[in-house]
Amino acid sequence: MESEKLSNIIRRRRSVRVYKSGKVTDKQLEMILEAARWAPSGANTQPWELVVTRDRAKMRRVRQIYDNEWKQRKKEDPVHYKGLKKDYVGDVSALVLVCGDPRTMQVYLTTRQPGDREKLFHASVANAVEHMMLMAASMGLGTVWVSVRQEVEPELRELFQVPQPLRLLWIVPIGHAQSWPKAKPRRKTSDFVHQEVYNPKKLRADSEIRPWPKG
Ligand SMILES: Cc1cc2nc3c(=O)[nH]c(=O)nc-3n(C[C@H](O)[C@H](O)[C@H](O)COP(=O)(O)O)c2cc1C
Repeated sequence: MESEKLSNIIRRRRSVRVYKSGKVTDKQLEMILEAARWAPSGANTQPWELVVTRDRAKMRRVRQIYDNEWKQRKKEDPVHYKGLKKDYVGDVSALVLVCGDPRTMQVYLTTRQPGDREKLFHASVANAVEHMMLMAASMGLGTVWVSVRQEVEPELRELFQVPQPLRLLWIVPIGHAQSWPKAKPRRKTSDFVHQEVYNPKKLRADSEIRPWPKG
C-alpha cells in the first residue's frame, strides 16, 4: 500500500551526521530537488531558492566556517557551550544551501501582522526541506537539517554569492550514511494529541521540556 510505503520512509529518515564516500547520482539529486518543487507553500509563493554544490573545496570552506564558529563559541564559554562540531557539512556528495526570498511575504495580502507573515515564509521553506529529506530517505540516502546561524551567515553568503535580500536559512548535506543512526526517542502520539479541546493534564512542566530530547 502506498501509505504504508510512505509511513516507512517517514520512519526511516534520520539525521545523518557521519557520511562515507559514494556519489549521489545526478538522477537522485534531480529527484530530490523535484521533491522540493512540490512542497506546499503559503499562497503558493514557493519562496525557496536552493544553491547546490558538489565542489569539495567549497564544502571544506563551509566546514571551516562552521568550525571557526564552534571554536569561537567554545572560547567564549568553555564550560557551558555544548554545541557539537558540524564536520558533516564538509564531507558529502552534495550540499544544498536552502535560502528563502522574503519578498514573497508581500503576497500575503490578507496577513497583516509581520509575525504571521514570517510564520508562513519559514514554514513554506521548511516544507521544501522536509520533502527533499524524505525523497533522499526513500533512496537510502542520508541528510541532516543544519541551521545557518547569524554568526556564519555572512561568510556563507559570500561563498555562495547569495544576493540580498535573500535569507540563508539552512544547509542540507546529502550523501551515503557511514551507518544508519538509531531512531531518536519520540513522544507518544497520545502525549501531544488532544481530543476536541486541549487537555491541560498533558501540558508539560518546564522541567520535562528542558532535558528533552536527550538520548
Ligand atoms: C529546524 C531544524 C534545525 C536543525 N538544526 C540542526 C543543526 O544545526 N545541526 C544538526 O546536527 N541537526 C539539526 N537538526 C536536526 C535535529 O537535531 C533532528 O532532526 C532531531 O534531533 C531528531 O533526530 P532525527 O532527525 O534523526 O529524527 C535540525 C532540525 C530542524 C527541524
